[in-house]
Order: sequence, then C-alpha cells, then structure tokens
Amino acid sequence: MSTPEPKDLFTITEAHLDTGLRGFPVGTARTSKVDPVQGVSYCGYPIADLVDLSPEAVVYLLLHKQLPTDDELAAFTADLQGRMGLPESVKSSLSGLPRDGHPMEWLICGLTLMGMVSKTGDWLEDAKNLVARMPELVAAIFRVRNGWGEPLAPDPSKGLVENFVHMLGMPDATEADLARLTQVMRTFYILHMDHGGGNLSTFTGKAVASGHADIFASLAASMAALYGPLHGRANQDCLEFVRTIGTQDPDQIEQFVRDALASGNKIYGFGHAVLRAEDPRATIQYALGQSLIPDDPLFKTALALRERAVKVLSGIEKVSNPYPNVDAVSGTLLSAAGLTDSNYYTVLFGFARVSGIAAQIVDERTVARNGKGVPIYRPKFLAVDQPARRIGD
Ligand code: MLT
Repeated sequence: MSTPEPKDLFTITEAHLDTGLRGFPVGTARTSKVDPVQGVSYCGYPIADLVDLSPEAVVYLLLHKQLPTDDELAAFTADLQGRMGLPESVKSSLSGLPRDGHPMEWLICGLTLMGMVSKTGDWLEDAKNLVARMPELVAAIFRVRNGWGEPLAPDPSKGLVENFVHMLGMPDATEADLARLTQVMRTFYILHMDHGGGNLSTFTGKAVASGHADIFASLAASMAALYGPLHGRANQDCLEFVRTIGTQDPDQIEQFVRDALASGNKIYGFGHAVLRAEDPRATIQYALGQSLIPDDPLFKTALALRERAVKVLSGIEKVSNPYPNVDAVSGTLLSAAGLTDSNYYTVLFGFARVSGIAAQIVDERTVARNGKGVPIYRPKFLAVDQPARRIGD
C-alpha cells in the first residue's frame, strides 16, 4: 500500500494506519535533519561541509551540538583513546561464535556482551565507551570470523578510523593500500553516522532505551534493525548488484536496468524513503571514486548506472525518487580499497551509525523534556474487532 501524503503533519487518518508511521512526527532530533532535496545535515552543517573533518570532531558535534575548538578536539580525542580496549571476555566469546553467522549477527552478540561486562548505567559515559570501543569490536569480528588471527590491540595514538584499519591487520596490505582504505573509511564513517530521528535502527534503539535498557542492549536492538535488507543490509546487496551487471557500456547497462525492472527486480542503490534528489552522501562518494579509482571497472559501471538507472527510473510514474542513495557506490569504493567481502558492509554502516544513535539516545534520556527524558514508547495500535468468543465455542 502506498502511504498517502499527509496534508497536515499532525492529522492522522485511517489511511495512515499500518503504513509504518511513515512521515508522521513522533519526536524531535537534535543531531541531524534530512531535507528531501538537500539531504542530511548534522546539527545544521550540510554533510558536505563535514566530510573532511576528523571523525572525532563529528562525533563531538553529534554529542555537543557544536564543533570543537582545537583544544576541545584534542581533549575529546584523548578521552576516546583512553576509553579504548575491548574487554577480554568479549574477545574470547567472539571466537566461540559460528563462522557462518552473518557479521551483523556477530555485531549484535558483541554489543550484548559489551553491555554484560562494561555498562556503567550512565548514558553519556556508556555512549562514549561504546563509540571508543567499536573500532576494536568491528575489527575483531573481521579477524576472528575470517580466521585472520587473534584480535589486535588498539594503538592509543591513533584515532577511531585509523585504529580500525590498524586493528584489521589486513593480510598482505601495503602502506599505500592502508592509506587508501583509511581515506575511504573516514569518508564512509562520517557519511553514515546519522540520518534523522526516524530511520528504523535509530527509532528502534531509542524505543528500547525508553524502557531504560542500557545503551549497549539498545544498540544491539538498533543493529538488529539495521541488519534487514530494506535498511542497512541494502549496501551489501547493492555491491552484488553492481558486480552482476558485468559491463561498463552505458547502453548495455540501460538495457540491464530495463530487463531487471521488467522481471520485477529491484534496482539497488536508487530511491529512498525520505530523499527526492541525489543523496549528497552518494555525490560525495562518486567524487571520491573519481579522484581515487577513476579507471576501476566496477566504479565505471557504478558511474554509468548513476546516469542510466536515473534515466530509466525517471520514466516510471510511480517512482518517487529515481536517484542514487548512500549505498549506490559505497560498496564499490570499499571493494576497491581492499574490503571485497560485501557481507561485512552493514557492520561498517553500524560502526558509524552507532555514534548518531548513541547521541540521540543520550538526548532522549537526559535532555528531552527539560532533562526528564522521553517516557517509555507506547504508540497506539487500534484493535481490529473480532467476534466475542469463549474457549469451547
Ligand atoms: C539512511 O541512512 O539513508 C537511512 O538510515 C535510511 C533512512 O533514512 O530511513
């Protein structure tokens, strides 16, 4: 069922029931705003203005709603570095997980384990501990699940993304490979941190935290939401889609898109629930690809798709947004940077998104309603009338 456009944001009619709360205001978010045409901004800054900052500066922005001065950034970076260090029991438990579990299932387990052994009960403290320890958790998931070896310890002189790349300990990577991966991951991390208050993983995490489960359990629930192929796991499917095309010829690509649509298949990486123009996060990643990997065959396919899929989709009346979204080219960049297994891409999305969700949870729990916090979520579902019955009737 398509969701009717609300005439008045605050009027819910029967036609809006069972449409996933789409477009209906249920709360406020201070960390980011998603404009259908301009795309996402964090605390008032368009995402394009933030993408070259250090990841720590952007985490600081989401938590404090203002960019740090140089001194504040140095102190915050040192604070996060001091919090690094994944508890030993979390690392050793990972090695007992089934290798054929999806990396997102590993991430959900890892977050739950972190909560078991390290929660303090203070929302902000736990949020900072979580953000600081995510690089090690995510790198450990890569290493242990792939059989690359034991988890590596963080280097306390490195930042969040540099540490992640360092702790991956990628077999056979040269210095140049690591520098390229760091560049791609810094951009990926900043672009994926936050996307308004109502995306499924953010909403889920805040809902769970509203029952006063700790931030680790709340984020485990968020990551379960992100795991779905209609949400975060779309980035994994998207790379597989680009790989399947197998040509860089624009006309053949256009035909591929037409054939896929005729067979009822999805065009991965295009369209969005809220956006109605090219996602600026896609624009930034296309530009990065043009500077880093202009001749990469997969990138050329993704570039031709940017033009031809939009052309084909624009001709279909019921398609409200024919434009590329954040997933359209992210997998192509990650793959060219050495992370070729798309099964891990949603974990990388989660690595970044945890910062935004944690910041929003801190706001809902400690700032909203003059510090009283948002009450436990309890939307109303209308009961569908059933005949009155008794056991034995
Ligand atoms: C995104 O980053 O695009 C999302 O989390 C999906 C959304 O905004 O609903």
